[in-house]
Amino acid sequence: MQESQISHTPDTVTILPRDVIFDVHGLLSENWCGDDAFRTDFCNALSLSFPRGEKFFVDSVRHFLPQITDSKLHKEALEFVQQEFMHRREHERYNQDLCKARGFNKDDIESIYAARIRQSNALPPLIRLSITVCLEHFTALFANGVMTDARWLEGVDPKMQQLWLWHAVEETEHKAVAYDVFLAVGGKRKMLRTTMRYVLYRFFMNTFRTMRKMQKAEGRSLAPRTYWYRGIRYLFGRGGILRVQKKEYLRFFAEDFHPWEFDNSYLIDTTLQRLSLPV
Ligand SMILES: [Fe+2]
Ligand SMILES: [Fe+2]
Repeated sequence: MQESQISHTPDTVTILPRDVIFDVHGLLSENWCGDDAFRTDFCNALSLSFPRGEKFFVDSVRHFLPQITDSKLHKEALEFVQQEFMHRREHERYNQDLCKARGFNKDDIESIYAARIRQSNALPPLIRLSITVCLEHFTALFANGVMTDARWLEGVDPKMQQLWLWHAVEETEHKAVAYDVFLAVGGKRKMLRTTMRYVLYRFFMNTFRTMRKMQKAEGRSLAPRTYWYRGIRYLFGRGGILRVQKKEYLRFFAEDFHPWEFDNSYLIDTTLQRLSLPV
């Protein structure tokens, strides 16, 4: 079997789907993320993207399952599907509670994501898979941030922290599955690099436009300087929570990149111990 057809997830990492239910509905009417409107809207917008986005990821990987000859990678792909199924379920419940608590029309608030997924579903299967690979790289970096940088969950209720940390752990466990499947079915790294440029722009546009929708729906004054100025600085300014991972993000464009070249697997056990969840 060629090197490109196999799993590169370390043998020490188990992709374990954990069927956990999180009850955060009492927190969603407030700015639960450190009493900060931008941070809360940003995380809520991410959550609103997950059910459709993660279904898209799963469908794009599932399409290629019959072509996977490496039994380890085949098993990991099925575990990836199960983990994403659980994430969708929990974030769908979160989103329903959020819309009820904030008085959002759910169809309207999710409409940007729904339209993007409709467009993306019309693309050829390998391009769909390349979009998944790029977004899984993003998700893995976000997950690493949530587990290592206290600013992500600063001032957040422990119940809410549990939900995001659980998701972060499982995103880390399966961070290379879509990538390995992409290479195993003959995908070229050049396609990933092209897709990533498109995906990066789309990801932030969709997120920020959804945040604006939330502001409008609640009749909040649009784009107050402090909200966007401080928020963008929080993400991308010097020392910003996303900017500090720029190096890892850019590694994606290297010819020899692989998600597990950055081995942060130690975070899986340490975070699970914090959460009292199965290791
Ligand atoms: Fe997920
Ligand atoms: Fe994922």
